[in-house]
Amino acid sequence: MYNGEKLNPKQFVEDAVKEIRTQVGGDTVVLGLSGGVDSTVTALLVDKAIGHNLVCIFVDHGLLRKNEFEDVLAHYNGMGLNVIGVRAADRFFAACKGITDPELKRKAIGKTFIDVFADEARKVKGARFLAQGTIWPDIAESHSDKGVIKSHHNVGGLPEDLHFGLVEPLKYLYKYEVREVGEVLGLDKHFLGRHPFPGPGLGVRCLEELTPERVHILQEADAIYIDALREAGLYDKIWQAAAILLPVRSTGVKDGRRTYDNVIALRAVNSVDAVTAEVVDLPFDFLQKVCRKIIENVEGVNRVVYDISPKPSSTIEWE
Ligand code: XMP
Repeated sequence: MYNGEKLNPKQFVEDAVKEIRTQVGGDTVVLGLSGGVDSTVTALLVDKAIGHNLVCIFVDHGLLRKNEFEDVLAHYNGMGLNVIGVRAADRFFAACKGITDPELKRKAIGKTFIDVFADEARKVKGARFLAQGTIWPDIAESHSDKGVIKSHHNVGGLPEDLHFGLVEPLKYLYKYEVREVGEVLGLDKHFLGRHPFPGPGLGVRCLEELTPERVHILQEADAIYIDALREAGLYDKIWQAAAILLPVRSTGVKDGRRTYDNVIALRAVNSVDAVTAEVVDLPFDFLQKVCRKIIENVEGVNRVVYDISPKPSSTIEWE
């Protein structure tokens, strides 16, 4: 917990469930699911407290990982959560058109998310509360006394006409504690072990302007990298891994001809709370294998590099 106390996850679940019931009574709660551990654990907690009065909204902003929308939606339905899936990629790409500045891009994604979410939330009869998977590092980094480091994206700031009360049961927890709570709630291992994934998704890993074509390249490279980590038994030993599409092209050669194509950076870090992070010393032969696979299978990529920067000085995400 942010106050230094050790978390008792069972007790936390009991207390949180009681608190949520007291806060929302018989009203309906809407919740934005992202496919990540934080929003999923929040959903399970609220579901445990108020059951069918929870309506979850899962927005596909077109910046999810390859096949993630379908896979995660099926998983949520399997967990018995009441989920509405919304495909809205076109709205996000339109909102981000021409934007290269990372903070403006984050804001455009965040605002569009709110618009799409609000449109859906308005359709939910009697909704009075909004539940969010905000955790302590999100709050700490968004309101640092040294100024905003990154404007972390969540659904706060919905339009006035929706004046929802906020339900944020995890807001004083660190990520590893959220996982402990998830375990008590019966969240399965595969889901619990998912690496953190930012709200703006691949939007902050596809550097500079977002286009469907560039995001597609990144999705393909990312899928190869993440699958390879799983196959090699490395995924669960890493806090977070990511492929990043850089905004530079470089010269290469393929079948004896010159190419001038994109660069993918691979990143893998270990951390406890995302406030600091160490680079993972991935085996060199593993990195070479992934590099070959990406270059052979992802059209438009001719170079792969490995990011060896710790946090600080670099943040985990590149934007
Ligand atoms: P940084 O890049 O700030 O990331 O070192 C720290 C952790 O936060 C995640 N992250 C985000 N999560 N919305 C989120 O929900 C965001 O806008 C966002 N930006 C970064 C990042 O993936 C890492 O786990």
